Amino acid sequence: MKRVLFYALCAGVACASFSCKPKTEEKAPPVDSAAHPAAAAPAPISKEPFGTLPDGQAVDRYTLTNKNGVVMQVINYGGIITSLRVPDKNGVSEDVVLGYDSLSGYLKATPYFGAIVGRYGNRIANGKFKLDGKTYTLAQNNNGQHLHGGLKGFDKVYWSIEEAQSAEGPSLRLKYTSKDMEEGYPGNLTVEVVYTLTNDNALKLDYTATTDKKTVLNLTQHSYFNLTGNGKRDILEHVLTLAADKFVPVGKTLIPTGKLTDVAGTPFDFRTATAIGARINGSDQQLVYGGGYDHCWVIGGADSTKAIATVFEPASGRVLEVYTTEPGIQFYSGNFLDGTITGKGGVVYTKRFGLCLETEHYPDSPNQSSFPSVVLNPGQTYKTQTVYRFSTR
Ligand code: GLA
Repeated sequence: MKRVLFYALCAGVACASFSCKPKTEEKAPPVDSAAHPAAAAPAPISKEPFGTLPDGQAVDRYTLTNKNGVVMQVINYGGIITSLRVPDKNGVSEDVVLGYDSLSGYLKATPYFGAIVGRYGNRIANGKFKLDGKTYTLAQNNNGQHLHGGLKGFDKVYWSIEEAQSAEGPSLRLKYTSKDMEEGYPGNLTVEVVYTLTNDNALKLDYTATTDKKTVLNLTQHSYFNLTGNGKRDILEHVLTLAADKFVPVGKTLIPTGKLTDVAGTPFDFRTATAIGARINGSDQQLVYGGGYDHCWVIGGADSTKAIATVFEPASGRVLEVYTTEPGIQFYSGNFLDGTITGKGGVVYTKRFGLCLETEHYPDSPNQSSFPSVVLNPGQTYKTQTVYRFSTR
């Protein structure tokens, strides 16, 4: 109950603050009308076919345009954000997320590009956890561990989508019902994720869920950001600030040791703005285990009205700020990208070509009694909010 109250409170505070925040951009950036003809006279939401799933289900691509001409595209499959075009410091709109041009790419092989991740974002040790003395067994789909909801997680299911408009901007309400024991998790779970493209150039994510049996839940969004625009180079020169004093150290298989470590004096200290590439190839054991950054930073108790993470890309001047009610943020520096994926516009995604800032609970929380609880009970409503806000400098 405590957890729900905390979420409700934080979400309320966050909402109030985000909508009152003054715009950092004085003038509306010019619209990239060549790439999006509708932007000249914005039709805030439009929809077009984006292919068919193997079971015959038709997938649509929704295009949302805010008042400044920022354009976001989303598909039913996985709730994937397939593109997000935001202006650079000269007002040039370009895509800042990785992904594929067509559905077939997403169906073939994707490291969760742009998708909603659940039921459990991140890893659960040995794919097992206990609730009220009963052991639940999940898929071991990552080096003997459970990762991102299993073989067919929320990133690979069909989400029904309703369009909506609010004073804040155009939005999409994505819904999915996960059956009792789907991927081994107990409880019929009803999930709703609302994506709002706000008129102050933020992507606001509101997650809610209810269950009819005690279960565990840790939803997140797996967009890979590359603020250079249309993928000009990797993310090593992006400058990151993370307002966190501690992170969650892991072992070889990226399962937490159970301790929390001070970032002070380590390459995990991003309390002052630091280029991602500055220390990434060092000999720190945690960096070696992660092949770079692939860790959860502790932000629990932080003020959700303040940016917990800020990314600045010097050449384009683009800035991304992250706000969240969640207690952790997984910063993944795209270490597993290896050039085998050719993404949108024929761009080859080499190592560290994108970065993820997955707001969530700590990995393996169902097995770590000292971590904040991820248990959801019948009668409770899971409620979290994350905001990715774009500006320029
Ligand atoms: C997460 C994990 C990474 C990796 C990516 C997907 O962010 O933490 O280790 O599995 O997803 O490739």
